[in-house]
Amino acid sequence: MTMEDVVVGPLDLAARVDEALAVQALAFGLTDEEVNVRRHIVLRHLASPGARALGATTPDGRLVGFVYGMPNDRAQWWSTVVEPYLRRAGHADWLDDVFAVTELHVHPAHQKRGIGRELITRITDEAREPRSILSAIDTESPARALYRSLGYRDLARRVLFPSAPSPYAVMGATLPLRR
Ligand SMILES: CC(C)(COP(=O)(O)OP(=O)(O)OC[C@H]1O[C@@H](n2cnc3c(N)ncnc32)[C@H](O)[C@@H]1OP(=O)(O)O)[C@@H](O)C(=O)NCCC(=O)NCCS
Repeated sequence: MTMEDVVVGPLDLAARVDEALAVQALAFGLTDEEVNVRRHIVLRHLASPGARALGATTPDGRLVGFVYGMPNDRAQWWSTVVEPYLRRAGHADWLDDVFAVTELHVHPAHQKRGIGRELITRITDEAREPRSILSAIDTESPARALYRSLGYRDLARRVLFPSAPSPYAVMGATLPLRR
């Protein structure tokens, strides 16, 4: 299947959360237990003001990729974890007036065809905020290469989230993302 067959557009993520988490489980690796925890987190996130999602769908309606995010809220758990790391690095202001990309995943059978790039570029193009922030596992992954190519730079490294075994990097970019 080529990129042209897959269409990126608005996604009712609350209605399709199980399909999205199935994609995430394949792309990122999630246990059944983690999927159940994520379901609650995603549904809570979607109730936040300004939360938006885009999906990548095949002609027969299968979801093969998704992205979601929202204007960042310092009161949310993610911000409270990364805040001390950003403050130490002199980047605490990145938590305000910034669009947070919360999740981005593409089904392994559909990766490396430009779908991930289109999802994150589209969702941030539609943001009102002048900047975007996200976190990614702190290794040289395809995700990190994609984010760098779009203009995201490291704001903090070796960020530890309670319960996550791997350290994360927090990355930020000015919008619109680089083409
Ligand atoms: C990150 C991810 C969403 C990218 O989706 P994708 O549709 O494969 O990405 P694209 O085809 O748009 O590729 C865009 C860029 O990503 C980078 N990239 C993608 N696959 C790569 C790979 N295997 N190795 C190195 N860089 C890679 C390249 O910079 C690429 O740009 P190029 O095509 O100009 O070389 C996908 O790899 C994925 O779902 N990974 C697992 C889950 C994950 O890590 N999600 C992010 C959590 S923070």
